[in-house]
Amino acid sequence: MEKILVTGGAGFIGSNFVRYALANTAYRITVLDALTYAGHLESLAGLPPERFSFVRGNIADAGLVDGLVAAADAVVHFAAESHNDNSLHEPRPFLDTNVTGTFTLIEAARRHGTRFHHISTDEVYGDLPLGDPARFTETTPYNPSSPYSSTKAASDLLVRAWVRSFGLRATISNCSNNYGPYQHVEKFIPRQITNILDGVRPKLYGMGQNVRDWIHVDDHSSAVLAILENGRIGETYLIGADGERSNKEIVELILERMGQDPSAYDHVPDRPGHDLRYAIDSGKLRAELGWAPSYSDFGAGLDATIDWYRNNQDWWRPQKAAAEARYREQGAGREQGRQ
Ligand code: NAD
Ligand code: DAU
Repeated sequence: MEKILVTGGAGFIGSNFVRYALANTAYRITVLDALTYAGHLESLAGLPPERFSFVRGNIADAGLVDGLVAAADAVVHFAAESHNDNSLHEPRPFLDTNVTGTFTLIEAARRHGTRFHHISTDEVYGDLPLGDPARFTETTPYNPSSPYSSTKAASDLLVRAWVRSFGLRATISNCSNNYGPYQHVEKFIPRQITNILDGVRPKLYGMGQNVRDWIHVDDHSSAVLAILENGRIGETYLIGADGERSNKEIVELILERMGQDPSAYDHVPDRPGHDLRYAIDSGKLRAELGWAPSYSDFGAGLDATIDWYRNNQDWWRPQKAAAEARYREQGAGREQGRQ
């Protein structure tokens, strides 16, 4: 493989993957990205032009997609509407991008026999009880809760069907919550870091007992490369780094690491249908492909992420006011929904 098409490469994980792959392989990479509110060309600044190119466009544009997929040896498909809160407010774009967009890509990959790797999420499995040893595995039944996770589940099932019925050369990975640089400020960790930098108190949904299984974005990238290069066609691999923590713990840790009183946050109304706990068993990926995460110290990874947001205010400031305005709109809607 030489030429890789990366969809959604101007987003959080896609842009980190592009940098990681350029540094660790000899691939030439083309990014296809619509530059929605979540995509930023600045996240791809300074990449070598002889190995990297950018195309602005929609993954649901069949004509554009056909030509790009035909020219690639493999597609790594990150593009998605990715935020649960937005999906509860306005589900339509999630269907258009996550379902129709994925359909458009796999149809092109089928026509051209192109290797396809589909990026998905642990949220397709629903949630787990708190304080329970159970974790998601590749055979856990699908049980998504939100418009976002149900459209990701739909996209996974499309890929599986295209493998079985049309012989699509595809793999799927379902990863847990990522953290690191270039994450949109609507998401939990960057929202709280940038709030604190702005002198605003962090916002914790409900009592904050919900648990997420955190992985550094570079560990996600290394796992995707391992699957792309050595994964078995038709297989699903779960990606996780044993990083379970409650939201309350995370908010307190961010405050503490930023030199603030760890109790200086506000509880705000909970997310409707809020999944309680995610936890990944990544045993298959580790045993079959010899993958292991490099980031074992969450506190150190969080410190580096805090430093990144402190030192890259030109990157996030342009998004911040719009993200908080969306939250105010969504919050008002939720309150009315309760009456
Ligand atoms: P993101 O929202 O930061 O980035 C998404 C990117 O896709 C943006 O650059 C956006 O412009 C682009 N995009 C959206 N609609 C498009 C369209 N119709 N055509 C072309 N481009 C379009 O998302 P992210 O957090 O980087 O997530 C990337 C992928 O990883 C998603 O598929 C998501 O489901 C999956 N995932 C995310 C996490 C996480 O913790 N963030 C964990 C597991 C899996
Ligand atoms: O598990 C993988 C998923 O992780 C990905 O598929 C999604 O694309 C990604 O957005 C993420 O989904 P979450 O809903 O878990 O992430 P989010 O950052 O929105 O929220 C993390 C947790 O923090 C969640 O329990 C809700 C809570 N939260 C979030 C925000 C924005 C708060 O308590 N306060 C907040 O302000």
